[in-house]
Amino acid sequence: MQPRISFNRVSKVFDAHGQTIVAVEDFSMDVMPGEFVSILGPSGCGKSTLIRMLDGIVAPTSGDIYLDGESVVGKRHMPATMLRKIGFIFQQPNLLPWFSVRENVALPLRVFGLKGAEWEKRVDDLIGMVGLDKYAKSSPMEISGGMLQRVGVIRAMAYDPEILLMDEPFGALDEMMREQLDMELLQIWTETHKTIIFITHNIEEAVLLSSRIYVMGTQPGRLVETVEIDLPRPRSLEMIVEPRFNDYEDRIINLIGEISLSKIK
Ligand SMILES: Nc1ncnc2c1ncn2[C@@H]1O[C@H](COP(=O)(O)OP(=O)(O)O)[C@@H](O)[C@H]1O
Ligand SMILES: [Mg+2]
Repeated sequence: MQPRISFNRVSKVFDAHGQTIVAVEDFSMDVMPGEFVSILGPSGCGKSTLIRMLDGIVAPTSGDIYLDGESVVGKRHMPATMLRKIGFIFQQPNLLPWFSVRENVALPLRVFGLKGAEWEKRVDDLIGMVGLDKYAKSSPMEISGGMLQRVGVIRAMAYDPEILLMDEPFGALDEMMREQLDMELLQIWTETHKTIIFITHNIEEAVLLSSRIYVMGTQPGRLVETVEIDLPRPRSLEMIVEPRFNDYEDRIINLIGEISLSKIK
């Protein structure tokens, strides 16, 4: 089977005010259709840079990136057919304040020229799926942070992309809200079979959600180890206190601890 997304020895060097920053060094990753994987690492290890290289905003210094076997490198303007395959979700949902919740969710349909009753129904279904029916006509300024983040998630799903790229989507929320949205995301994934790449610096969140975690280190930003998470599905919040869950957390804490020690040496 062909990977949905493939990074092949990708590096990115920034030249910032005469200073050379190796944001990503020699990163490789194959994500198969329908997988849920996380990229985990401390701030500054190049996680967001990986995402920006995937949607063509930033060009890699070396290496190749493939989307369904097609190279995205060197395409200054990614064709709409490729862009439509990916839904992007960020920490700040950046909703338009003068649009209602529903209008915000439906906005990508306009961008991609998707018209008709079927697409309109899809928007309403997505709003219902995350329990926001009552707020469809509200302004983003009238709803809570957790609700805003839900809108950000379903807006990225409006045009039915095969892949969801999530860059610390729930990082600004309190822990209880984050856990709730994590579980909703797992539900969405189970129902839709989307391929999900989830970026986080939260170890517990990465273990709870993923089938595989790419653990990264800083300076230079690089892959330290790939950890397969062999916990059964469906996952539940009760699992967080189980010994095998804690074993994964300890293993990753050790990996990250070793990274910071090696920096001191
Ligand atoms: N456009 C840019 N110009 C210069 N340096 C950048 C740029 N974007 C990111 N960096 C640097 O690259 C490194 C990785 O950044 P980033 O990918 O945002 O990390 P993360 O998302 O893991 O916190 C950081 O040192 C950051 O300062
Ligand atoms: Mg980032």
